[in-house]
Amino acid sequence: MSKVTVIGAGMVGATCANVLAARNIADEIVLIDIKEGLSEGKMLDMYQAAATTDSKSKLVGCTNDYKKTANSDVVVVTSGIPRKPGMTREELIGTNANIVKSVVSQALAHSPRAIFVIVSNPMDTMAYLTLKSTGLPKNRVIGMGGALDSSRFRCYLAKAAGANIHDVDGMVIGGHGDTTMIPLVSKATVKGVPASQFISKKKLEQVAADTMVGGATLTGLLGTSAWYAPGAAAASVVESVLGDQKRVIPCSCYLEGEYGQEDIMIGVPAVIGRKGIEKIVKIDLTADETEKFAASAAAVRKVNRILVDTKAI
Ligand code: LAC
Repeated sequence: MSKVTVIGAGMVGATCANVLAARNIADEIVLIDIKEGLSEGKMLDMYQAAATTDSKSKLVGCTNDYKKTANSDVVVVTSGIPRKPGMTREELIGTNANIVKSVVSQALAHSPRAIFVIVSNPMDTMAYLTLKSTGLPKNRVIGMGGALDSSRFRCYLAKAAGANIHDVDGMVIGGHGDTTMIPLVSKATVKGVPASQFISKKKLEQVAADTMVGGATLTGLLGTSAWYAPGAAAASVVESVLGDQKRVIPCSCYLEGEYGQEDIMIGVPAVIGRKGIEKIVKIDLTADETEKFAASAAAVRKVNRILVDTKAI
């Protein structure tokens, strides 16, 4: 029996629950929110779809009743406000830090063995806050940003190469911010062949630029933050944990010297399995990527500093 709690029944949380349900990734899925009726409504809607989606998961919606989340294997945290057009993810910290800290402590009290997957923004800092405020071991807190950014990278690579998205591979590391993420263009491939053999240098630069503002582009179009790709990316991390799949997923991980950084959560490739972050994968970066990673870490650290300054940790 596997059980997943998704905290926050907004667009991202509900999409994550829907992907988990439709793909039968968890036996039981609990969606919880503070807004009366929202989770109950969304889960009933998903259950009304179950006959056609072939979902077999038990679906529970509840308003702020953490007892119903008890003994979850994985808790996905999507709570907080999304950004509006023109805003950065980092600007959300004031509001979201308090919300994330509160929901994480309530969830942990009922699910003491859970692995936490953090989606709320600013994601790297919210993951760091989760780790520091709970004292959880580093393997049990995973920030999902790199999974999302890599999925967006593959979308733009596929478009540029005119290739099938499943034949295209690529990773994004660094912070989950418009200017801090690093699409690893040098390692992108189409069916195992360097992407540079299919896409011109100029076009590859555009792919990287489009990836970095992939979320902001949608915020501009939709008037609020995206949900399909974020929800699906979070579900893919959950799937690798529950299935002990050991997939290599770029995630925000707590570093203790890896990639030249310590006491920070930032995106690096990691093996994700039943224990959460089971291994940080060390890959060789080009000189340019190494420089960008250090700058990205400095930017994430600056946002983390606000947690200390505001006594959130
Ligand atoms: C995005 C938000 C979820 O990138 O961070 O769409």
